[in-house]
Amino acid sequence: MTLTRSVVLGSGSYLPSRVLSNADLAKRVDTSDEWIFQRTGIRERRIAAEGEMTSHLALMAARAALANAGVDTADIQLILLATSTPDYTFPATAVAVQAGLGITHGAAFDVQAVCSGFVFAIATADALLKAGGGKRALVIGAETFSRILDWDDRSTCVLFGDGAGAVVLEAQDLGAADTERGVLATRLRSDGRYQHKLYVDGGPSSTGTVGHLRMEGREVFRHAVGMITDVIEDVFRMTGYSAQDIQWFVPHQANKRIIDASAVKLGIAPDKVVITVDRHGNTSAASIPLALDAAVADGRIKRGDLILLEAMGGGFTWGATLLRW
Ligand code: ACO
Repeated sequence: MTLTRSVVLGSGSYLPSRVLSNADLAKRVDTSDEWIFQRTGIRERRIAAEGEMTSHLALMAARAALANAGVDTADIQLILLATSTPDYTFPATAVAVQAGLGITHGAAFDVQAVCSGFVFAIATADALLKAGGGKRALVIGAETFSRILDWDDRSTCVLFGDGAGAVVLEAQDLGAADTERGVLATRLRSDGRYQHKLYVDGGPSSTGTVGHLRMEGREVFRHAVGMITDVIEDVFRMTGYSAQDIQWFVPHQANKRIIDASAVKLGIAPDKVVITVDRHGNTSAASIPLALDAAVADGRIKRGDLILLEAMGGGFTWGATLLRW
């Protein structure tokens, strides 16, 4: 008997060249490196150049992932782009990436689940691949949150950054002796009662403007650890694995305190946690694939490793994925 699984063939990422440090921010708003680092673990973030759009970052990450996977554009049937900062209201930014790659077959669309977008996109791609919707998928997380920040609001503008990451997934029919590869389980959740705890105060159907990010930081913090650990416990139950079995925990990089508290609650050793929030800030849907690619590039993540992904963000949305690299 064979089982179809979505196996990761490779990863890639891209960061804009401009670095914005905490000291740079302190010149604009009343803040300090000490305040930001103590409460978030962030030292610096990247900011897209003028004219550099989400699709540009996504395209660079997609090309890097394809090269790392050794896959040609002709062999990609699906492109899923997780973003809350699309180039335009429509069409989907994914089609700009599709055109940039010179692909005219298959399908490309965006997934909008804010910071949880990459986990939601992996789950969507996994379901489509298993249902015969294609053989290979590019799953990208890309954001230019710098464009929706209120740069006079010190409680939010210090937290976010721009960037993109991507993976290539392939549907593989695994034999009975080798079914433990690829995406093993995903749990997705959302609860719209919390939609105004973290949102953008504009949009095509409400104000006709783009708007700025607004957040009740303490409220987000209060819910984050419980929500994250709930879905992680779900994927452990679904697979029979436990925190002791994983090689790497690659969480959404919102805040080092949320990551540390989640790892402690789950019993995950600190040396198994991949951290990039210090260098990237919170890049929303891009943060997990950026962190994954950083740990692949420096040799930490290796073939066969059991990897736990999780994210939580606006909506609220939250989710976890367990996969074998
Ligand atoms: N620099 C200096 N002081 C600041 C800053 C700043 N950048 N921002 C806020 N303050 C001040 C506030 O004005 C307040 O001052 P006051 O006491 O005189 O009124 C004081 O610091 C405390 O403000 P709080 O908002 O209560 O600070 P808190 O300790 O909760 O830290 C933070 C704020 C870092 C946002 C925290 O609530 C947090 O991490 N929340 C999670 C939010 C998050 O990570 N969101 C990301 C998106 S969702 C996701 O991806 C999971």
